[in-house]
Amino acid sequence: MTMNSSQSQQIFEKYVIQNYKRYPVNLVRGAGSVVWDSEGREYLDFFPGWGCNLLGHCPPRIVAAVQEQVARLIHVPNTWHTTEQGVWAQMLVERAFDGQAFFCNSGAEANEAAIKLARLHQGPERYKIITFQGGFHGRTMGALAATAQPKYHEGLGPMLAGFSYCPYGDLGEVEKRIDSATAAIMIEPIMGEGGVRIPPREYLQGLRQLADDNDLLLIFDEVQTGCGRTGHWFGYQYFEVTPDIMTLAKSLCGGVAGGALLARREVAPSLRPGMHASTFGGNPIAAAAGIAMIETIEQDGLLEQCADSAQQFAEHLSELQSACDHIREVRQAGLMIGIELEFEGAPIVQKCLEQGLLINCTQENVLRLLPAMNIEAEQIRSGMDLLRQVVLDHSASISETRVEA
Ligand SMILES: Cc1ncc(COP(=O)(O)O)c(C=O)c1O
Repeated sequence: MTMNSSQSQQIFEKYVIQNYKRYPVNLVRGAGSVVWDSEGREYLDFFPGWGCNLLGHCPPRIVAAVQEQVARLIHVPNTWHTTEQGVWAQMLVERAFDGQAFFCNSGAEANEAAIKLARLHQGPERYKIITFQGGFHGRTMGALAATAQPKYHEGLGPMLAGFSYCPYGDLGEVEKRIDSATAAIMIEPIMGEGGVRIPPREYLQGLRQLADDNDLLLIFDEVQTGCGRTGHWFGYQYFEVTPDIMTLAKSLCGGVAGGALLARREVAPSLRPGMHASTFGGNPIAAAAGIAMIETIEQDGLLEQCADSAQQFAEHLSELQSACDHIREVRQAGLMIGIELEFEGAPIVQKCLEQGLLINCTQENVLRLLPAMNIEAEQIRSGMDLLRQVVLDHSASISETRVEA
Protein backbone atom coordinates (compact mmCIF):
# COMPACT_ATOMS: atom_id res chain seq x y z
CA MET A 1 0.00 0.00 0.00
CA THR A 2 1.46 3.35 -0.99
CA MET A 3 0.08 6.79 -0.31
CA ASN A 4 1.57 10.24 -0.74
CA SER A 5 1.67 12.77 2.08
CA SER A 6 -1.38 14.66 0.88
CA GLN A 7 -3.51 11.50 0.47
CA SER A 8 -2.43 10.39 3.91
CA GLN A 9 -3.39 13.76 5.38
CA GLN A 10 -6.85 13.54 3.81
CA ILE A 11 -7.55 10.08 5.20
CA PHE A 12 -6.40 11.20 8.66
CA GLU A 13 -8.65 14.26 8.56
CA LYS A 14 -11.62 12.06 7.79
CA TYR A 15 -10.99 9.00 9.94
CA VAL A 16 -8.52 9.79 12.71
CA ILE A 17 -9.52 11.92 15.72
CA GLN A 18 -7.74 15.24 15.39
CA ASN A 19 -6.20 15.33 18.87
CA TYR A 20 -2.65 15.77 17.58
CA LYS A 21 -1.11 18.59 15.60
CA ARG A 22 0.66 16.66 12.84
CA TYR A 23 3.11 17.84 10.22
CA PRO A 24 1.85 17.24 6.66
CA VAL A 25 4.46 14.53 6.17
CA ASN A 26 3.84 10.80 5.78
CA LEU A 27 6.82 8.87 7.08
CA VAL A 28 7.42 5.48 5.53
CA ARG A 29 10.85 4.21 6.45
CA GLY A 30 13.69 4.81 8.88
CA ALA A 31 17.24 3.62 9.49
CA GLY A 32 19.40 4.87 12.33
CA SER A 33 19.08 8.65 12.59
CA VAL A 34 17.53 9.04 9.15
CA VAL A 35 13.88 8.79 8.16
CA TRP A 36 12.16 9.09 4.75
CA ASP A 37 8.71 10.31 3.73
CA SER A 38 6.47 8.95 1.00
CA GLU A 39 7.87 11.49 -1.49
CA GLY A 40 11.36 10.08 -0.89
CA ARG A 41 12.55 13.12 1.07
CA GLU A 42 15.21 12.32 3.64
CA TYR A 43 15.25 13.79 7.17
CA LEU A 44 18.01 13.71 9.74
CA ASP A 45 16.23 12.91 13.00
CA PHE A 46 17.44 14.63 16.19
CA PHE A 47 14.20 13.63 17.94
CA PRO A 48 13.63 10.03 16.82
CA GLY A 49 10.37 8.60 18.06
CA TRP A 50 9.86 11.40 20.61
CA GLY A 51 12.65 9.89 22.70
CA CYS A 52 11.57 6.28 22.13
CA ASN A 53 14.07 5.45 19.40
CA LEU A 54 17.19 5.77 21.52
CA LEU A 55 18.89 3.30 19.16
CA GLY A 56 17.62 5.15 16.09
CA HIS A 57 15.04 3.86 13.63
CA CYS A 58 14.73 0.11 13.08
CA PRO A 59 17.83 -0.96 15.02
CA PRO A 60 18.83 -4.29 13.44
CA ARG A 61 19.07 -6.30 16.68
CA ILE A 62 15.63 -5.13 17.83
CA VAL A 63 14.18 -5.94 14.40
CA ALA A 64 15.74 -9.42 14.47
CA ALA A 65 14.64 -10.12 18.05
CA VAL A 66 11.05 -9.08 17.32
CA GLN A 67 10.95 -11.05 14.06
CA GLU A 68 12.21 -14.17 15.81
CA GLN A 69 9.83 -13.72 18.73
CA VAL A 70 6.74 -12.88 16.71
CA ALA A 71 7.10 -16.14 14.78
CA ARG A 72 7.37 -18.18 17.99
CA LEU A 73 5.01 -16.66 20.57
CA ILE A 74 3.20 -13.33 20.13
CA HIS A 75 1.19 -13.02 23.28
CA VAL A 76 0.30 -14.96 26.37
CA PRO A 77 -1.33 -13.39 29.42
CA ASN A 78 0.31 -12.86 32.77
CA THR A 79 -1.27 -16.04 34.12
CA TRP A 80 1.78 -17.82 32.64
CA HIS A 81 5.50 -17.53 32.99
CA THR A 82 7.61 -16.70 29.96
CA THR A 83 11.39 -16.89 29.80
CA GLU A 84 11.50 -13.51 28.05
CA GLN A 85 9.71 -11.55 30.79
CA GLY A 86 11.73 -13.13 33.59
CA VAL A 87 15.08 -12.57 31.87
CA TRP A 88 14.13 -9.00 30.98
CA ALA A 89 13.22 -8.21 34.60
CA GLN A 90 16.51 -9.71 35.79
CA MET A 91 18.53 -7.71 33.25
CA LEU A 92 16.83 -4.45 34.25
CA VAL A 93 17.21 -5.04 37.98
CA GLU A 94 20.88 -6.02 37.59
CA ARG A 95 21.53 -2.64 35.95
CA ALA A 96 19.45 -0.68 38.45
CA PHE A 97 18.86 -1.21 42.18
CA ASP A 98 17.90 -4.43 43.94
CA GLY A 99 14.19 -4.90 43.41
CA GLN A 100 11.46 -6.31 41.22
CA ALA A 101 9.71 -5.22 38.04
CA PHE A 102 6.10 -4.78 36.96
CA PHE A 103 5.51 -4.46 33.21
CA CYS A 104 2.99 -2.39 31.30
CA ASN A 105 2.86 -0.67 27.92
CA SER A 106 3.52 3.05 28.33
CA GLY A 107 4.85 5.77 30.58
CA ALA A 108 1.45 6.85 31.85
CA GLU A 109 0.65 3.26 32.80
CA ALA A 110 3.96 2.87 34.61
CA ASN A 111 3.15 5.99 36.61
CA GLU A 112 -0.37 4.73 37.38
CA ALA A 113 1.26 1.62 38.80
CA ALA A 114 3.66 3.76 40.85
CA ILE A 115 0.79 5.81 42.31
CA LYS A 116 -1.11 2.65 43.24
CA LEU A 117 1.98 0.98 44.67
CA ALA A 118 2.79 4.04 46.81
CA ARG A 119 -0.75 4.14 48.23
CA LEU A 120 -0.90 0.39 48.81
CA HIS A 121 2.49 0.33 50.48
CA GLN A 122 1.84 3.25 52.81
CA GLY A 123 -1.65 2.14 53.88
CA PRO A 124 -5.06 3.82 53.66
CA GLU A 125 -4.22 6.85 55.84
CA ARG A 126 -1.29 7.91 53.66
CA TYR A 127 -2.48 8.69 50.17
CA LYS A 128 -0.93 12.06 49.28
CA ILE A 129 1.81 12.41 46.69
CA ILE A 130 3.92 15.51 46.24
CA THR A 131 4.68 16.33 42.60
CA PHE A 132 6.29 19.36 40.96
CA GLN A 133 5.03 22.33 39.01
CA GLY A 134 6.05 21.99 35.37
CA GLY A 135 6.45 18.20 35.61
CA PHE A 136 4.90 15.74 33.19
CA HIS A 137 3.79 12.20 34.00
CA GLY A 138 1.31 11.24 31.28
CA ARG A 139 -2.29 11.60 30.15
CA THR A 140 -4.28 8.92 31.98
CA MET A 141 -6.30 10.34 34.86
CA GLY A 142 -3.90 9.35 37.66
CA ALA A 143 -0.76 10.35 35.78
CA LEU A 144 -2.53 13.52 34.66
CA ALA A 145 -3.44 14.40 38.23
CA ALA A 146 0.25 13.96 39.09
CA THR A 147 1.14 16.35 36.24
CA ALA A 148 1.18 19.84 37.76
CA GLN A 149 0.45 21.79 34.59
CA PRO A 150 -3.03 23.38 34.64
CA LYS A 151 -3.22 23.57 30.83
CA TYR A 152 -3.42 19.76 30.65
CA HIS A 153 -6.22 19.60 33.24
CA GLU A 154 -8.53 22.05 31.48
CA GLY A 155 -12.05 20.66 31.05
CA LEU A 156 -11.15 17.32 32.63
CA GLY A 157 -11.83 17.92 36.29
CA PRO A 158 -12.30 16.91 38.96
CA MET A 159 -8.79 15.51 39.16
CA LEU A 160 -7.90 12.52 41.33
CA ALA A 161 -7.46 13.89 44.85
CA GLY A 162 -4.30 13.68 46.91
CA PHE A 163 -1.66 15.43 44.81
CA SER A 164 0.18 18.43 46.17
CA TYR A 165 1.90 20.55 43.52
CA CYS A 166 5.15 21.92 44.79
CA PRO A 167 7.16 24.75 43.19
CA TYR A 168 10.22 23.21 41.58
CA GLY A 169 13.66 23.63 43.06
CA ASP A 170 12.91 24.64 46.66
CA LEU A 171 13.38 21.93 49.31
CA GLY A 172 11.75 24.08 52.00
CA GLU A 173 8.54 24.12 49.96
CA VAL A 174 8.57 20.33 49.81
CA GLU A 175 9.07 20.06 53.55
CA LYS A 176 6.11 22.38 54.17
CA ARG A 177 3.82 20.11 52.18
CA ILE A 178 4.68 16.90 54.03
CA ASP A 179 2.08 15.83 56.58
CA SER A 180 0.89 12.62 58.19
CA ALA A 181 -1.10 11.67 55.07
CA THR A 182 1.86 11.99 52.68
CA ALA A 183 2.90 8.73 51.04
CA ALA A 184 5.47 9.73 48.43
CA ILE A 185 7.40 12.32 46.47
CA MET A 186 7.29 11.85 42.70
CA ILE A 187 9.59 13.66 40.28
CA GLU A 188 11.33 13.38 36.93
CA PRO A 189 15.06 13.51 37.75
CA ILE A 190 15.27 15.81 34.71
CA MET A 191 12.06 17.49 33.59
CA GLY A 192 11.69 16.61 29.93
CA GLU A 193 8.46 18.04 28.57
CA GLY A 194 8.82 20.77 31.21
CA GLY A 195 11.77 22.20 29.28
CA VAL A 196 14.77 19.91 29.96
CA ARG A 197 15.25 21.30 33.45
CA ILE A 198 18.23 19.70 35.17
CA PRO A 199 18.33 20.11 38.93
CA PRO A 200 21.53 20.34 40.95
CA ARG A 201 22.41 16.97 42.48
CA GLU A 202 21.82 18.48 45.96
CA TYR A 203 18.16 19.01 45.16
CA LEU A 204 17.52 15.34 44.48
CA GLN A 205 19.72 14.40 47.45
CA GLY A 206 17.57 16.72 49.56
CA LEU A 207 14.40 15.01 48.34
CA ARG A 208 15.94 11.65 49.20
CA GLN A 209 16.71 12.95 52.69
CA LEU A 210 13.20 14.32 53.19
CA ALA A 211 11.75 11.01 52.05
CA ASP A 212 13.98 9.08 54.46
CA ASP A 213 13.27 11.41 57.37
CA ASN A 214 9.53 11.18 56.88
CA ASP A 215 9.24 7.55 55.79
CA LEU A 216 8.06 8.54 52.29
CA LEU A 217 8.66 6.72 49.05
CA LEU A 218 10.77 8.54 46.48
CA ILE A 219 9.46 7.87 42.97
CA PHE A 220 11.55 8.81 39.93
CA ASP A 221 9.70 9.06 36.65
CA GLU A 222 12.49 7.96 34.31
CA VAL A 223 10.27 7.56 31.27
CA GLN A 224 12.44 10.09 29.40
CA THR A 225 15.74 9.89 31.30
CA GLY A 226 15.89 6.10 31.38
CA CYS A 227 17.77 3.38 29.54
CA GLY A 228 20.94 5.26 28.61
CA ARG A 229 19.70 8.71 27.66
CA THR A 230 22.03 10.52 30.07
CA GLY A 231 25.02 8.27 29.40
CA HIS A 232 24.08 6.16 32.43
CA TRP A 233 21.59 3.33 32.42
CA PHE A 234 19.20 5.46 34.44
CA GLY A 235 19.00 9.15 35.27
CA TYR A 236 19.23 8.42 39.00
CA GLN A 237 22.75 7.09 38.43
CA TYR A 238 23.70 10.38 36.73
CA PHE A 239 22.76 12.14 39.99
CA GLU A 240 23.80 9.29 42.33
CA VAL A 241 20.47 9.47 44.13
CA THR A 242 18.55 6.19 44.26
CA PRO A 243 14.73 6.17 44.31
CA ASP A 244 12.46 3.56 45.88
CA ILE A 245 10.36 3.26 42.74
CA MET A 246 11.35 4.06 39.16
CA THR A 247 9.13 4.16 36.10
CA LEU A 248 10.34 3.49 32.55
CA ALA A 249 8.88 3.51 29.05
CA LYS A 250 9.78 5.34 25.80
CA SER A 251 13.17 3.85 24.88
CA LEU A 252 12.79 0.78 27.12
CA CYS A 253 12.16 -1.55 24.17
CA GLY A 254 14.18 0.27 21.52
CA GLY A 255 11.09 1.76 19.87
CA VAL A 256 8.62 -1.05 20.52
CA ALA A 257 5.83 -0.14 22.97
CA GLY A 258 6.59 -1.12 26.53
CA GLY A 259 6.64 0.25 30.05
CA ALA A 260 7.93 -0.89 33.41
CA LEU A 261 8.07 -0.04 37.06
CA LEU A 262 10.99 -1.10 39.23
CA ALA A 263 10.50 -1.08 42.97
CA ARG A 264 12.88 -1.77 45.84
CA ARG A 265 12.58 -5.33 47.12
CA GLU A 266 10.88 -4.23 50.37
CA VAL A 267 8.31 -2.13 48.52
CA ALA A 268 7.46 -4.32 45.51
CA PRO A 269 5.32 -6.95 47.32
CA SER A 270 2.72 -4.29 48.16
CA LEU A 271 1.51 -4.66 44.56
CA ARG A 272 -0.41 -7.76 45.59
CA PRO A 273 -2.15 -10.25 43.30
CA GLY A 274 -5.40 -8.76 42.05
CA MET A 275 -4.47 -5.18 42.91
CA HIS A 276 -2.97 -4.25 39.56
CA ALA A 277 -2.55 -5.78 36.13
CA SER A 278 -1.95 -5.10 32.45
CA THR A 279 -3.11 -7.53 29.77
CA PHE A 280 -0.27 -6.80 27.37
CA GLY A 281 2.29 -5.82 30.03
CA GLY A 282 5.59 -7.66 29.65
CA ASN A 283 4.38 -9.50 26.56
CA PRO A 284 6.95 -11.68 24.76
CA ILE A 285 7.50 -9.20 21.91
CA ALA A 286 8.12 -6.23 24.21
CA ALA A 287 10.33 -8.43 26.39
CA ALA A 288 12.38 -9.71 23.44
CA ALA A 289 12.83 -6.11 22.27
CA GLY A 290 13.70 -4.95 25.80
CA ILE A 291 16.36 -7.63 26.12
CA ALA A 292 17.77 -6.77 22.68
CA MET A 293 17.86 -3.09 23.68
CA ILE A 294 20.06 -3.83 26.70
CA GLU A 295 22.28 -6.20 24.73
CA THR A 296 22.74 -3.68 21.94
CA ILE A 297 23.74 -0.91 24.33
CA GLU A 298 26.31 -3.17 25.97
CA GLN A 299 27.66 -4.98 22.93
CA ASP A 300 28.02 -1.77 20.91
CA GLY A 301 29.51 0.24 23.79
CA LEU A 302 26.74 2.82 23.45
CA LEU A 303 26.99 4.29 26.94
CA GLU A 304 30.57 5.30 26.08
CA GLN A 305 29.53 6.48 22.61
CA CYS A 306 26.73 8.50 24.23
CA ALA A 307 29.32 10.39 26.29
CA ASP A 308 31.39 11.15 23.17
CA SER A 309 28.37 12.27 21.16
CA ALA A 310 27.18 14.38 24.10
CA GLN A 311 30.56 16.10 24.14
CA GLN A 312 30.36 16.76 20.41
CA PHE A 313 26.87 18.26 20.83
CA ALA A 314 28.14 20.35 23.77
CA GLU A 315 30.85 21.91 21.59
CA HIS A 316 28.37 22.81 18.84
CA LEU A 317 25.90 24.13 21.39
CA SER A 318 28.42 26.34 23.08
CA GLU A 319 29.44 27.75 19.67
CA LEU A 320 25.79 28.39 18.85
CA GLN A 321 25.19 30.07 22.19
CA SER A 322 28.11 32.42 21.79
CA ALA A 323 27.02 33.31 18.25
CA CYS A 324 23.41 34.05 19.16
CA ASP A 325 22.24 36.73 21.60
CA HIS A 326 18.75 35.31 21.78
CA ILE A 327 19.59 32.07 23.55
CA ARG A 328 18.77 32.25 27.25
CA GLU A 329 20.28 28.96 28.30
CA VAL A 330 21.49 25.63 26.97
CA ARG A 331 20.77 22.63 29.20
CA GLN A 332 22.25 19.23 28.53
CA ALA A 333 22.59 15.89 30.30
CA GLY A 334 24.06 13.31 27.94
CA LEU A 335 21.78 13.18 24.92
CA MET A 336 18.95 15.12 26.53
CA ILE A 337 19.29 18.68 25.28
CA GLY A 338 17.23 21.84 25.73
CA ILE A 339 17.97 25.19 24.11
CA GLU A 340 15.90 27.92 25.77
CA LEU A 341 15.25 30.79 23.38
CA GLU A 342 14.06 34.32 24.00
CA PHE A 343 11.50 33.79 21.27
CA GLU A 344 9.04 31.07 20.21
CA GLY A 345 10.65 27.90 18.93
CA ALA A 346 7.92 26.72 16.52
CA PRO A 347 9.28 28.65 13.49
CA ILE A 348 12.71 27.11 14.07
CA VAL A 349 11.23 23.60 14.15
CA GLN A 350 9.31 24.39 10.94
CA LYS A 351 12.37 25.77 9.12
CA CYS A 352 14.49 22.81 10.20
CA LEU A 353 11.80 20.45 8.91
CA GLU A 354 11.77 22.25 5.54
CA GLN A 355 15.53 21.76 5.36
CA GLY A 356 15.44 18.12 6.38
CA LEU A 357 16.15 18.17 10.13
CA LEU A 358 13.66 16.94 12.74
CA ILE A 359 13.73 18.58 16.17
CA ASN A 360 11.12 19.42 18.81
CA CYS A 361 10.05 22.44 20.80
CA THR A 362 8.51 22.23 24.27
CA GLN A 363 7.07 24.88 26.62
CA GLU A 364 6.85 27.29 23.63
CA ASN A 365 10.49 28.34 23.65
CA VAL A 366 12.70 25.37 24.47
CA LEU A 367 14.13 23.52 21.48
CA ARG A 368 14.48 19.90 22.53
CA LEU A 369 16.85 17.35 21.02
CA LEU A 370 16.72 13.68 22.04
CA PRO A 371 19.10 12.13 19.50
CA ALA A 372 19.89 8.44 19.21
CA MET A 373 22.83 6.99 21.15
CA ASN A 374 24.31 5.59 17.96
CA ILE A 375 24.09 8.82 15.97
CA GLU A 376 27.18 9.29 13.77
CA ALA A 377 29.66 12.11 14.31
CA GLU A 378 29.04 13.40 10.78
CA GLN A 379 25.29 13.46 11.41
CA ILE A 380 25.81 15.53 14.57
CA ARG A 381 28.02 17.95 12.64
CA SER A 382 25.70 18.40 9.67
CA GLY A 383 22.54 18.64 11.82
CA MET A 384 24.08 21.14 14.22
CA ASP A 385 25.42 23.24 11.31
CA LEU A 386 21.91 23.35 9.88
CA LEU A 387 20.31 24.16 13.23
CA ARG A 388 22.87 26.88 13.87
CA GLN A 389 22.14 28.56 10.55
CA VAL A 390 18.36 28.40 11.08
CA VAL A 391 18.59 29.82 14.61
CA LEU A 392 21.00 32.59 13.56
CA ASP A 393 18.89 33.59 10.52
CA HIS A 394 15.72 33.63 12.58
CA SER A 395 17.22 35.60 15.45
CA ALA A 396 18.67 38.12 12.96
CA SER A 397 15.19 38.59 11.51
CA ILE A 398 13.78 39.05 15.03
CA SER A 399 16.44 41.65 15.86
CA GLU A 400 15.55 43.52 12.65
CA THR A 401 11.83 43.47 13.48
CA ARG A 402 12.57 44.77 16.99
CA VAL A 403 14.71 47.60 15.60
CA GLU A 404 12.00 48.55 13.10
CA ALA A 405 9.35 48.50 15.83
C1 LIG B 1 8.61 11.92 32.02
C2 LIG B 1 7.42 11.33 31.32
N1 LIG B 1 6.57 10.58 32.02
C3 LIG B 1 5.50 10.02 31.43
C4 LIG B 1 5.23 10.20 30.09
C5 LIG B 1 4.05 9.55 29.45
O1 LIG B 1 4.46 8.48 28.67
P1 LIG B 1 3.46 7.80 27.63
O2 LIG B 1 3.17 8.81 26.56
O3 LIG B 1 4.21 6.59 27.13
O4 LIG B 1 2.23 7.42 28.38
C6 LIG B 1 6.10 10.98 29.33
C7 LIG B 1 5.83 11.22 27.91
O5 LIG B 1 6.34 12.11 27.27
C8 LIG B 1 7.22 11.57 29.96
O6 LIG B 1 8.10 12.32 29.29
